Amino acid sequence: MAVSARTLNKFGKPALFAALLLPALWLAWNWWLAVSGGDHVLTVNPIEYTNRYLGDWAFRYLLAALAISPVADLTGFKRLILFRRMVGLFAFAYACLHVASYLGLDLFFDWRAFWEDVLKRNYITVGMAALVLLTPLAITSTNKMVKRLGVARWQRLQRLVYPAAILVAVHYIMMVKSIQLEPLIYAGILAVLLGFRLIRRAVGRVRLSER
Ligand code: HEM
Repeated sequence: MAVSARTLNKFGKPALFAALLLPALWLAWNWWLAVSGGDHVLTVNPIEYTNRYLGDWAFRYLLAALAISPVADLTGFKRLILFRRMVGLFAFAYACLHVASYLGLDLFFDWRAFWEDVLKRNYITVGMAALVLLTPLAITSTNKMVKRLGVARWQRLQRLVYPAAILVAVHYIMMVKSIQLEPLIYAGILAVLLGFRLIRRAVGRVRLSER
């Protein structure tokens, strides 16, 4: 049975919204436990844990947003695309919280230290570049902005998500001091998602040239 766009908008979107919020609520709950002296998962270094946790979820959601169109193509469930904007915006929100946790909890809002890090620590420079690329995508995500820019220009702008995601993968790989599996797994998933798009584009071109 096909699910209508109306049903997805009415029930699917609020459910997805609540699901995407869960990691943040879970983190807030553990902070509350930590502050009130209960058992929590924040380890002996809650600030580092928080920063990394938020960075991880930002990257996961970014990958999930990038996975929506391939999954919609492969399964034929095209309406999945209705959820892409929300997942992308959540990726951006978690990325902002990740940076805010670094600035606020780690550096106590020492903006000078923050900009020094952005300029001098390579993995932070790369993270900042990723955030800069993601920002216009979030700003122009409303229907009003799509209309104002025109669909073609808006779609071209959306392509910034690819270099942004690559920069996030590099940020993660550079951040770890030794070779570790986890950042490489994330980078591998990203490579598959980007590879899928390249193949889809090439197949589209061949089909066009055969017409
Ligand atoms: C101004 C921009 C950024 C700054 C200052 C920043 C800062 C940091 C810092 C300080 C760490 C942890 C380093 C450590 O604990 O040794 C980190 C890790 C990480 N960041 Fe960022 N970041 C930025 C942008 C981003 C963005 C845009 C994303 C994702 C969309 C992201 C995803 C990650 C991930 C996945 C990790 C690794 C987490 C882990 O170890 O599990 N970062 N970042």
